[in-house]
Amino acid sequence: MIDNARALRPSHIPSDLHHRDAKIEQLADALRPIADGDRGENVLVFGPSGTGKTTLAKFVVQELERETLDFRWGYHNCISGSSKAAVLYGIMRDAGLGADLRKAGSPTSEFIHRLRESDRRVVAIIDEVDVLEDDTTLQALYELPNVTIVAITIDEDDLFAHIDSRVRSRLRSAETLRLERFTHAQLVDILQARIRAGLRPGTITSDAIHYTADVAAGDAREAIGILRSAARAVMRENDRSQITTAVVDDNRTAAREEIHLDRVEDLGTHKRLLYDIIEAAGEVPATELHEAYEQRAQTPKATSTRRRYLSNLEDKYGLIDSSGNGKGKAYAVPEF
Ligand SMILES: Nc1ncnc2c1ncn2[C@@H]1O[C@H](COP(=O)(O)OP(=O)(O)OP(=O)(O)O)[C@@H](O)[C@H]1O
Ligand SMILES: [Mg+2]
Repeated sequence: MIDNARALRPSHIPSDLHHRDAKIEQLADALRPIADGDRGENVLVFGPSGTGKTTLAKFVVQELERETLDFRWGYHNCISGSSKAAVLYGIMRDAGLGADLRKAGSPTSEFIHRLRESDRRVVAIIDEVDVLEDDTTLQALYELPNVTIVAITIDEDDLFAHIDSRVRSRLRSAETLRLERFTHAQLVDILQARIRAGLRPGTITSDAIHYTADVAAGDAREAIGILRSAARAVMRENDRSQITTAVVDDNRTAAREEIHLDRVEDLGTHKRLLYDIIEAAGEVPATELHEAYEQRAQTPKATSTRRRYLSNLEDKYGLIDSSGNGKGKAYAVPEF
């Protein structure tokens, strides 16, 4: 059934991106000066979940890497760490700079220094930038003459509404790339390419491909997730040899659960701790959650920071639900 599991993993960067030629070109153009030894234009990438923002950014930067000497790029997802130190350290380390530095115990200025002192051009891909805790993070990167920023987030208005006005005006002058949901036909193409790359021939019906594209409604992450869950299910169940629409139906929930778990895996320490407490309790009143957190966290974050983390977990990632208000507020993990 499964021939190449890598092709079905969510983090997989395919060798060909489908239906994004114009966007690839736009991003490549913005970064092109880097190949000539200059600084690129900063770029903002917007679009709903599963439209390929992360994949597009990594794809284009990898291409640039192939043709550019003295070039490094670093990727950081703010879901894994949203403080200034976490972001700058993440970018620096992922770009292969400052391998000798440890995150704890090094001042943030040292990470900036390492980026600046590197005699290379650096692209910093900052994913889920809307959850950044400290707007001066972007400011610090803007000020580095050798660094170009590619910042990614779902919603444009939401980002501009929450960001410091100085950073906002800088961001407004960045090149903007907007990705739309894939159409049904585009998702079918993407699925077919993944099927060729990942599954043995003849293991999925044409109806099932179209049905998966329908169900995923423009979201490639969901479409590929369903394919993966369905393929696994068929492997487990000996009486089925093909992915049919019925198999897709049976595995939609499993696919959604798996996408949820992938996001949980990416959470940074404190967000993860909050999530784990809620998950273990089923449903937990806010006051109990805070108490449990304070007991378990080594260096607890301020209550206001925790509240922001919780609201991000709920509104931006959909990983938790809340009910009630004020003292009656409670948190739970959503049902699938
Ligand atoms: N143009 C494309 N062609 C083929 N596959 C793609 C394309 N764009 C994205 N994908 C695949 O779709 C999945 C989702 O893409 P990606 O993670 O980049 O979306 P995203 O916009 O970053 O979503 P999120 O906002 O949830 O992080 C990945 O498995 C990726 O490999
Ligand atoms: Mg992404």
